[in-house]
Amino acid sequence: MPQQDQRKMDLARRLLRHYQAGTTDSAPDVMAMPVDAYLDPDRYRAEVDQVFKRHPLALALSIEFPEPGSWRAMTVLDVPVLMVRGKDMRVRAFINTCRHRGAPVCENGHGLARSRKFSCPYHAWVYDDRGRLTGMFGASTFGDVDRADLGLTELSCDEVSGLIWVTLTPGLRPDIRQWLHGFDKEVDTLDLGNWYLYDQRAFEGPGWKVTWDGYLEGYHQEAVHPETVGKNTIANLMAHDTYGPHQRFVFGRKNLGQLADIPEDEWVPDDHIRLIHSGFPNLSLSGVIGGFCLASMVFPGKDLEHTVTIQNVLVHKKPETEAEIEAAEVFSRMGLIAVRDEDYDLGFKIQAGLASKGNQAFLFGRNEPTLQHFHKWIAKLCEEAKAEAA
Ligand code: FES
Ligand SMILES: [Fe+2]
Repeated sequence: MPQQDQRKMDLARRLLRHYQAGTTDSAPDVMAMPVDAYLDPDRYRAEVDQVFKRHPLALALSIEFPEPGSWRAMTVLDVPVLMVRGKDMRVRAFINTCRHRGAPVCENGHGLARSRKFSCPYHAWVYDDRGRLTGMFGASTFGDVDRADLGLTELSCDEVSGLIWVTLTPGLRPDIRQWLHGFDKEVDTLDLGNWYLYDQRAFEGPGWKVTWDGYLEGYHQEAVHPETVGKNTIANLMAHDTYGPHQRFVFGRKNLGQLADIPEDEWVPDDHIRLIHSGFPNLSLSGVIGGFCLASMVFPGKDLEHTVTIQNVLVHKKPETEAEIEAAEVFSRMGLIAVRDEDYDLGFKIQAGLASKGNQAFLFGRNEPTLQHFHKWIAKLCEEAKAEAA
C-alpha cells in the first residue's frame, strides 16, 4: 500500500477508536482567551505586521499558472502583488507598482500574457516575466537611469505542494521549508497540482480570528451545518496533528462506524474520513466529499472586523459529463452556503457582539485543540517579533 494510504489508514483507525469510545483528540485543559484579543486595534495591527507580513502566505494555487506568461494580480492587505510564471517555469511575485511613478502594471485579475510582458498603463514602461524593465517609452528623452535598478520589486515566492507562497515584505526571504515544518509533506498527499479549478470567488467575512475559529473545529458541524457539510460529517470527533503553526485535522464521515464491520484490508479510508489541512495563518484545504476540495485563502480585510476570503472550488478531474458537472455544481453551491451563509453569517453576529462585554473571555474546550494551537501561535509570533525588536 502506498505510504499516503498507510497514513490515511492510520487516521481512519484513530478516528474509529475515538468514535467507538466517544472521545476525540484533546488538549490537556480548557483555554480562556480574553476577547480583547479580537478587539484591540493595536494588537490587530501587530498581528498584521508580525504574522501576515513576515511569513509566507499561500496566495494562489499552482494550477492558476498553467504556462509561461500565466499571471495573477491581487491586493493582499495593502500590498498589490503580481505573480507570473516565467519562461523558466518559475513563478515569481512582485509588488505591482511601476518603478517610474507607481501605477500598477496590470489590473487585479488573472490571465495569460503571451508576450510575457507587462506594459504600464501610465507611460508605457515595459517589464518582462522576471520583472526586469525591458522597455521605456521615449527612452532617449528620459535621461540617464540604470534600468537594472528599476525592475519591479520582487517578493520572496516559492511554489511548494501545488501552492504559491509569497512573503509580503520586500527583502524578507524566509526559508519556506523551515516555515512549513513538514506540513508540505502532508499537503503533497493531496496532489493539488493536478486538480481542476472549477470556480473561484471572493467574499467578505468577519474578523480574522472569528473567521478562523469557525474553520478550525468540528464541534459546530451539526448545529450550524445540518443541511450542508454537517450532513456528511460527524461533529465533535477529530484526529489532530500539528506541524509548527500548521495543522492537519481529520473528521469522520457519517459512515465511519461501518469500518468496524469491514476487514481492514478492504478499507477505503477516503470513503470514511475527511481531511482538512490548515496552513497558518491564511489557508484551509478542506476535502468534504471524495473528489472535491475547497481551498480557501482568508486575508485581513478593510479593518479588524472584516476579512476577504478567496474560495477555490477544486474538482479532482475536469467535469465533462452532465452528471459530473451537476455533482461539481452541487458541491460548489454547498461550499458557498456552508461558509458564507452559515459560518460567516454567524461569525458576523459574534463579531457584532464582541464589544458588548457579555464575555470577558472566549473558551476553547479540550475538544478544540486546533483553536488552542492557532491562538497560541499568533501570540508566540507576535511575542517573538517584539523580542527581536527590543
Ligand atoms: S508610472 Fe509606469 S510608466 Fe510611468
Ligand atoms: Fe463551519
